[in-house]
Amino acid sequence: MAYISTEWKGTEYFPIHDFHHVEYFVGNAKQAVHFYRSAFGFEPHAYCGPETGEREKVSYVLKKNKQFFVFTTPLSSNHRGSNWLKNHGDGIYDIAFSVDCDKTAYDSCLSRGAKGVIEPELIKDNKGEYGRSSIETYGDTIHSFIHDANYKGVWAPGFEPLRLSRIPNQDTALIAIDHIVGNVEEGKMDEWREFYETIFGFTTFVRFDESDISTQYSALKSIVVRSKNWKVKMPINEPANGIKKSQIEEYLDFNEGPGVQHVAILTNDIIKSITALRANGVDFLDVPDTYYDDLEERVGPIDEDMEKLKQLKILVDRDEEGYLLQLFTKPLEDRPTLFIEIIQRKGSRGFGQGNFQALFESIEREQALRGNL
Ligand code: FE2
Repeated sequence: MAYISTEWKGTEYFPIHDFHHVEYFVGNAKQAVHFYRSAFGFEPHAYCGPETGEREKVSYVLKKNKQFFVFTTPLSSNHRGSNWLKNHGDGIYDIAFSVDCDKTAYDSCLSRGAKGVIEPELIKDNKGEYGRSSIETYGDTIHSFIHDANYKGVWAPGFEPLRLSRIPNQDTALIAIDHIVGNVEEGKMDEWREFYETIFGFTTFVRFDESDISTQYSALKSIVVRSKNWKVKMPINEPANGIKKSQIEEYLDFNEGPGVQHVAILTNDIIKSITALRANGVDFLDVPDTYYDDLEERVGPIDEDMEKLKQLKILVDRDEEGYLLQLFTKPLEDRPTLFIEIIQRKGSRGFGQGNFQALFESIEREQALRGNL
């Protein structure tokens, strides 16, 4: 049964201020960048590659208000990203956090059993100093700790401003990363909850299982861990038994293991955001018209025009604290793995649990079309 607790029971071993950025490995960053700009309205921010003296890879940093997405393509088969791409296809490999000191964060995590990936390094150039370290998390995903408060250059040492020709698009009004969800293997969800509680000192906020979310065919279990200041919220899903293959299993098969399932992006005006995203050509999961038949009964009075929500197919969910509006894109790549959620919060700190049922039915229709159900 569902469990929700807004109480802080964690230990803040070191402050994690917020998500700093996400970094993707992609086969062709030049084209991925075009897509995230034209579809999601990101703006060019910084770049490193052969032109700036980097021989091994190219990285493009895109910005939209308070969020940064980095797209990295290895330039040879020797780069670790090439093997990553062979296994997983395009996807997010680094969920990076803002911290006061990358070394303190790294040492603290390792002292409680984390495995290091990149040792703390303070890089200095004429723009200041920049610290970074990284540890392992689920699958081949990592968490980097970034300390750039004393760095005045663009992004990080080695980067230059990214200048690209203008792309016509509508303003998507997307503000910041709200939460990032990982899919892990059956039976592993609690191990990863423990990891976040032990290593980061996070607290468990929400827990639900197949008795809360299931359809005739498939089900999932989910748990949400969070940082003390609520800025970092990380749901973790695992498949639960159904008659047919669950969407989490489909993800695990195509991603060849655990990884990031979706990034939720916050907006203060979801009607504006979804209108713009649809005009920019983003495909969203289909929501059956019947979803809106009893919506008012389920969620009570809301500020938005119901007809407008139905027309844009925006989902609504309510809990004791308030309500939220949300919608999920279709997978952004040919492997049915990563997608993006757009979310607007009106008091609710939840994740739309009440919508999962309606949504699952929609996801399964898509899955059946791919012959994976
Ligand atoms: Fe979500």
